[in-house]
Amino acid sequence: MKTAVITGGTDGIGRKLAQTLLERGDRVVVIGRSSVKAEAVHAAAARLGAADRLEFLPADLSLVSENHRVVDHLRSAYPAIDILALGARYYRSSRALTADGFEASFALFYLSRYLLAHGLAETLGRSTTPIVLDLSGPGGDLARINWDDLQFARGYDPDAVMHQCGKLSDLLAVAFVRAHANSGIRYLLLHPGLTATGFTGSYSAEDAATVAGMRRRGQPVDAAVARIMRHLDHPAVAPLSAFMQDTPVDTTGAAFDMAAAERLAAHTRELLAGAGPGPHA
Ligand SMILES: NC(=O)c1ccc[n+]([C@@H]2O[C@H](COP(=O)([O-])OP(=O)(O)OC[C@H]3O[C@@H](n4cnc5c(N)ncnc54)[C@H](OP(=O)(O)O)[C@@H]3O)[C@@H](O)[C@H]2O)c1
Repeated sequence: MKTAVITGGTDGIGRKLAQTLLERGDRVVVIGRSSVKAEAVHAAAARLGAADRLEFLPADLSLVSENHRVVDHLRSAYPAIDILALGARYYRSSRALTADGFEASFALFYLSRYLLAHGLAETLGRSTTPIVLDLSGPGGDLARINWDDLQFARGYDPDAVMHQCGKLSDLLAVAFVRAHANSGIRYLLLHPGLTATGFTGSYSAEDAATVAGMRRRGQPVDAAVARIMRHLDHPAVAPLSAFMQDTPVDTTGAAFDMAAAERLAAHTRELLAGAGPGPHA
């Protein structure tokens, strides 16, 4: 029986992934904010006779302290984690700050992934087949990174923010794989394909219309999860791999530049050093 932790597991692709793993007999920890959505996940697990293998861990992952709390809990509750699936998303047409003072998308899409992946590396390393799965869009141009203003204090553009989030995921993966080189952890960046999900977020009227069109064009969630399961069941041998759906993305090219990854990691450590108490405080 594997143990999987799924952020964004209360909705969309994450919820279906949770259900699929429960069907296979695995243990699943689902993280999200909504207790109403969590009830639906619980009900589905109960129908499968898998309620005792599901834990719902409510958390607002856009907050640094909440990520530390989640890490502390998971480290003490589970001797090993086999799959860490990073799928929390929230689109914002307008810029918002978290209570920590971080731009909200930067906090949820990037800082949370950073804190969870690094914070759980030791627990992942105790699995015989550990894997971090980041559902992002790998391989875009490094020029998508707004180095001078990573949190878009000036000229907030939600699409530029989303593209940057994908690039930050790429660089997080590069630095993670170097930092945990002997852990046996495989890091998989996977764009599952346009999928008809809830597209959780706060949308302007214009963006809401765009998203409604995406929902109409998107593949069913089942198809996205079937693809994800194929990748999880047959992971690439390399510690870092990336795919646009089923097409491999070259992780040795400029888009995955080590110097840029180290630059981002150093900047992140500085930001977090000023963001209050760390884990086990
Ligand atoms: N759908 C697509 O076409 C597509 C394409 C490529 C990549 N992806 C990626 O696949 C992943 C899943 O996407 P999706 O479309 O299935 O998402 P979704 O249906 O919009 O669900 C988003 C999930 O994120 C959680 N979430 C949002 N804000 C949160 C917060 N502050 N703290 C904790 N959890 C939070 C939501 O839970 P609560 O509401 O309970 O907080 C929900 O479970 C994302 O990483 C997305 O970028 C999706």
